[in-house]
Amino acid sequence: QPAPISIEFDQEAAAQKLKIGVYFATWWALNVIFNIYNKKVLNAFPFPWLTSTLSLAAGSLLMVVSWATRIAQAPETDLDFWKTLFPVAVAHTIGHVAATVSMSKVAVSFTHIIKSGEPAFSVLVSRFFLGETFPLPVYLSLLPIIGGCALSAATELNFNLIGFMGAMVSNLAFVFRNIFSKRGMKGKSVGGMNYYACLSIMSLFILTPFAIAVEGPHLWAVGWQNAVSQIGPNFIWWVVAQSVFYHLYNQVSYMSLNEISPLTFSIGNTMKRISVIVASIIIFNTPLQPINALGAAIAISGTFLYSQAKQ
Ligand code: 3PG
Repeated sequence: QPAPISIEFDQEAAAQKLKIGVYFATWWALNVIFNIYNKKVLNAFPFPWLTSTLSLAAGSLLMVVSWATRIAQAPETDLDFWKTLFPVAVAHTIGHVAATVSMSKVAVSFTHIIKSGEPAFSVLVSRFFLGETFPLPVYLSLLPIIGGCALSAATELNFNLIGFMGAMVSNLAFVFRNIFSKRGMKGKSVGGMNYYACLSIMSLFILTPFAIAVEGPHLWAVGWQNAVSQIGPNFIWWVVAQSVFYHLYNQVSYMSLNEISPLTFSIGNTMKRISVIVASIIIFNTPLQPINALGAAIAISGTFLYSQAKQ
């Protein structure tokens, strides 16, 4: 009896679509909130190495408490798991701190416009480091991505070289993170949520000594006093919000990675950037020239073309 089978199948497909839709909406919303609070904190307290460390610390603490109280089941890991996680964590740490340094120097929207160029880094790294080749349409899609980012950078009103380079380094590091994590996830039974938790814990250990060396407790103490006298006691809640939301949006994105193809994920990620760019321009009243917005639109259309060509 074919009719009931097809109804059942449709219902399953619809439920799966709904689930992915909920993941995506949650991921984008959490990401927008993170970006807003992160920038508010960085404006008052320009210490990106510490705020990056706190994001990882908040996530690590949340997960360790969840495991200890059995809200979440702790993963079963062995030494091999942590060894394969190490390069992923190094790349995650570099990508995270570089993006935060970038956002401390330029508008959030500009960082994310440059970060929409990540597919170009992915293709170039795969081509030149891994010897992979791609069909011509993939290479062609890089033209609008690179051209759009370049146009946006050239016409950015508050251009800053460290801000620009931070976003570029973040792109490069995240491409390596994706390559290493694909290798590390193979055959492992640790799910998305726990995989990201372990990644946070390891990254926290890697980043902490560097954060102390680059910025250090003395500067943090002086900066903190300034921020509190400027913003008031609520400042601490901004720091808590940026740290917790950083963990939550990444956790949801890793959970959705379990459910969808890399292609759907990268389209979701590009749409996430659009939400952040638009929301941050409105909330921070970022001055934007039409030509600059055109550059962003070209770059983002390029990433959609890239996704299609990759398919
Ligand atoms: C970070 O701080 O890690 C970046 O803002 C993350 O960027 P993403 O939008 O690529 O997750």
